[in-house]
Amino acid sequence: MKRRIGILTSGGDCPGLNAAIRGVALAAHNMFDVEFVGIADGYQGLIDGDYKEMKTSDFHGLLTLGGTILGTRRTPYRNMRKIEEDNVDKVASMKKNYKKMGLDCLVTLGGNGTHKTANLLAEEGLNVIGLPKTIDNDIWGTDVTFGFHTAVDLATEVIDRIHTTANSHQRVMIIEIMGNKAGWLTLYSGVAGGADVVLLPEMPYDPNKVIEAVEKRTSKDRRFTIIALAEGAFTKEAAKMKRKERAAAIKEAGFSSNSFMLADTIQNATGLETRVVVPGHYLRGGSPSPYDRLLATQFGVYGAQLIRDENYGQTVAMIDGKIGHNPLSAVAGITKFVPKDDQIVRAAKDMGICFAD
Ligand code: F6P
Repeated sequence: MKRRIGILTSGGDCPGLNAAIRGVALAAHNMFDVEFVGIADGYQGLIDGDYKEMKTSDFHGLLTLGGTILGTRRTPYRNMRKIEEDNVDKVASMKKNYKKMGLDCLVTLGGNGTHKTANLLAEEGLNVIGLPKTIDNDIWGTDVTFGFHTAVDLATEVIDRIHTTANSHQRVMIIEIMGNKAGWLTLYSGVAGGADVVLLPEMPYDPNKVIEAVEKRTSKDRRFTIIALAEGAFTKEAAKMKRKERAAAIKEAGFSSNSFMLADTIQNATGLETRVVVPGHYLRGGSPSPYDRLLATQFGVYGAQLIRDENYGQTVAMIDGKIGHNPLSAVAGITKFVPKDDQIVRAAKDMGICFAD
């Protein structure tokens, strides 16, 4: 029996999306009779009915290609059931287009928001398979997501390179690393890059402890201090506020982000020149690392196996080092935070890296 599979990528892009698309497609073509429909720009394409038939040749040459050949968009889950100005019932449209395309299954590649909508569609009766991607590595139920390790490589290289210029100028350098809710990327790249201070959203920091760490290094004749700060990290004081209030307080103080506010605090307290580096979306760009090519391929192939077995409503995962799956209903939208007793956190603290918590 021929299966018609729709495939979309949703949310922020990351390296490995195309490798995963290729993994699903090549394995499915190899294992059973299949047709693929590529849906443009995430759930928006499913809502609008923007899709095209894909030939086997469309999946060639994708292993090393960054971004996503399908395009992606953030279509927030919280709005999925809202009827907005355009008067479109998004859920009804997605169901209608799934039928119109004649799909047997929909494969969604994305992060927490994508998984929530995937689960919603599964609850609405569609056959859905999720594949977990994000540079944030914050999807519950999987040891790792594809895109993460490439971003760790890139962020580590940024930290490495900042060392030499920090040393030349005797500066404090803050590297603001993506990760709004979870600090995995900052933790891994911070420790791998030899940062002296690591600040994570999960562990609100005391700016005085950061200043102490900087002064301690200066007193030991160290010429520079490297601070790896997650974009979503905040102070203990700010922890008493709601998320929106925190952002407003930074703006009100005249800073574009927490990093710049901390830089100002450090410079005023220590007299040391303090600079901020924001690699931002650079960490999401370009070719996936060999690790991510392998992971995305394995996840994609496993997704095709789930489709072959008609085991729908699942998301692929790495569970204790083995490729497997979790029910979407059990994991969709649950954020995997860095635990305070994470083994890398403990090792880093034991070797004197300051978390200022
Ligand atoms: O979820 C991945 C991520 O890169 C976060 O680390 C970051 O906060 C966010 O996306 C940035 O989103 P956008 O692409 O919308 O600027």
